[in-house]
Amino acid sequence: MAPVEIKKDIYWVGALDWNVRDFHGYSTPKGTSYNAYLVIDEKITLFDTVKKPFKNKLIERISEIIDPRRIDYLVVNHVEKDHSGSVPEIVELIGPEKVVCSPMGKKALIDHFNPGNWPFHVVETGQTLKLGKKTVSFLETRMLHWPDSMMSYLPEDKLLLSSDGFGQHWAASQRFDDEVDSAELYGHAAKYYANILLLFSPLVQKLLAKVADMGLDIDMIAPDHGIIWRKDPGGIIQAYQRWSRQECGRKALVIYDTMWQATEMMASAVGDGLKEEGLDFKLLNLKLNHRSDIMAEMLDTKALVLGSPTINNGVMPAMADLLSYMKGLRPTGKVGAAFGSYGWSGEAVKIISETMREMNINLVSDGVRVKYSPRKEDLDRCFELGRQVARAALGVDAGPSQARVGN
Ligand code: FEO
Repeated sequence: MAPVEIKKDIYWVGALDWNVRDFHGYSTPKGTSYNAYLVIDEKITLFDTVKKPFKNKLIERISEIIDPRRIDYLVVNHVEKDHSGSVPEIVELIGPEKVVCSPMGKKALIDHFNPGNWPFHVVETGQTLKLGKKTVSFLETRMLHWPDSMMSYLPEDKLLLSSDGFGQHWAASQRFDDEVDSAELYGHAAKYYANILLLFSPLVQKLLAKVADMGLDIDMIAPDHGIIWRKDPGGIIQAYQRWSRQECGRKALVIYDTMWQATEMMASAVGDGLKEEGLDFKLLNLKLNHRSDIMAEMLDTKALVLGSPTINNGVMPAMADLLSYMKGLRPTGKVGAAFGSYGWSGEAVKIISETMREMNINLVSDGVRVKYSPRKEDLDRCFELGRQVARAALGVDAGPSQARVGN
């Protein structure tokens, strides 16, 4: 695929990774892209590189525009290796006049690559670099999502090169938001936010406020993964405002693993109770749903009901995996409860409940445990648990306990 001119004299020269399916624990069923951008001006500048195995693709695309050795400046907006993996070989090839990075970026580049005498040019928020007709203004975005992260803004082009921010793991031959299905695009962007940025939501809010304060005039956002926002960059900024506030809809998830289908029967009854009170829900079997897809579902979900049988005095491995992953990403503002079947010791519900409390999830009860297989009265208790959770999610007082109707 040829380079793509995204603005006059600014080119996408990145690489498409159609085959990656796991990104440090995040499932990427549609691959990803490593976006790099080449600006042609008096000082020819490359913004970011690509994951190391894709270095030749980057060089080929640059070579369709200019001889790579003519590049003057290399800007490293982020040192994670999906963007910096090719930096040492690119520096070796082009011999840049400047390697531009944040103060933390310089430390990270040294720690990663032990680079010797690279011509570092360290920039902080608000500093600018003149390329000729074009200017670059830098904006450090520490911990969004690494300490070194920064964004580059080109005011003459109203272009924000946003590093990981506003990205999506999606390999596509299209480059722009107006060329792809909008619902799919926002789905990928939401999953990216939920799995990469959720725990930094307070910092995202500060960044968005700062961008507003700085009065940056933006008509295109070009991230380092996925599709470029040119039709409606304001749309993804508004989505980030919603996601960073962790606004939740009238929605519940019943997430469970099951050994001999007893906990699965309980999950179904919990779902019936949720729906009885008017809360839409999804049943997500952990054997069939990847942790990163569950986090995406969780982004706008108010109620979480988690279930696991007890195994070896603990929870099922997939539930332990989810709890660990979820705790790290710090979803906030949720209500919930736990449930599960057991044979003799029955610790799972307590373990899940304790972990949910540690995550500041507002529990409506100590949960429901059922010995071996649930009888009708047990399923009624699960149904009632669903009702309680739904009413808490909807902000109404729990009504009197009622027996479950139906199966
Ligand atoms: Fe896409 Fe944080 O690297």
